[in-house]
Amino acid sequence: MRRSTIEWVDGAVEIIDQTALPVRTVVRRLSTVDELVAAIQTLAVRGAPALGVAGAFGVALAARQYRGDALTEAVLRLRTARPTAVNLARGVARAADRLADGPEAVLQEALAVRDEEIASSAAMAARGADLVTSLCGPSPRLLTHCNTGGLAAVVGGTALGVVAELHRRGALGGVVASETRPLLQGARLTAWELDQLGIAYQVAVDSAGPFLMAQGMVDAVILGADRICANGDVVNKVGTYAHALGAQRAGIPFLVVAPESTVDTETPSGADVKIEDRDAEEVLSFNGQRTAPAGAAAVNPAFDITPHDLVTAIVTDRRTISRQS
Ligand code: MRU
Repeated sequence: MRRSTIEWVDGAVEIIDQTALPVRTVVRRLSTVDELVAAIQTLAVRGAPALGVAGAFGVALAARQYRGDALTEAVLRLRTARPTAVNLARGVARAADRLADGPEAVLQEALAVRDEEIASSAAMAARGADLVTSLCGPSPRLLTHCNTGGLAAVVGGTALGVVAELHRRGALGGVVASETRPLLQGARLTAWELDQLGIAYQVAVDSAGPFLMAQGMVDAVILGADRICANGDVVNKVGTYAHALGAQRAGIPFLVVAPESTVDTETPSGADVKIEDRDAEEVLSFNGQRTAPAGAAAVNPAFDITPHDLVTAIVTDRRTISRQS
């Protein structure tokens, strides 16, 4: 089976289409910037590190497809395809910096972005597993939110990479995947990845998280980030903040695992981040079936902001940043 979520193959980008999982594993070939932007916006490719690689590969496509103003405009469309994960703008900027050197130089930079994300995943898995064991002992029961595995990166992942490493070490007591309404990255994608890894898991509705923590059924929360601000505020999938409040109340560690490419020291705090608002229909319907009454309105922020004082530690590929107590 194909192992990487996103790859450059013979002049095009190939992705595992995350909208089709877990029912079907579909590899889609994207040959144009328009196709890639649509894949990003529909979450066929998603997750902060994967978006960085997608953005960089997108510039490699653009360099082959366009010249002059059309090229500038294509790069802008890639950079702004989704606003919240800093990795996307970063991956685009890194590849775009090589445009003057020609398409091959752009592609080499994009491949370097991919390789760095693969290396970061391995480093985070080891560092994060050591930290979880030191904080929670030999058999922790973890709760994770959204999808932070290989699907969200290239291979490996961030928080789910740590879960997988703990499993490999025989040092995992259990894992709860919160379903992650409305697009079910937890119930569809994390559950699928845990299946592939042979790790037993339970899916819970998002709102059960704080209750499970209060009942003593979870020893730590571990999840990823789309942007970590200069003051340590964590911007991540909506629902993260509620889990952080639950963890604080239950007195258990709240751990964030993200590569350095997600750390944004130029953004002072969460208040300075553009939170993506997505289509109301995602909330008002389920599986293509309208669930809310005709005429219902919805608010659909795709992310939320967890203030830094709720975060026990942030694990990156290079360091562990612990909350000052
Ligand atoms: O809207 P998504 O699915 O792209 O959101 C993804 C998340 O919020 C992840 O938790 C985050 O990108 C970390 S992925 C390693």
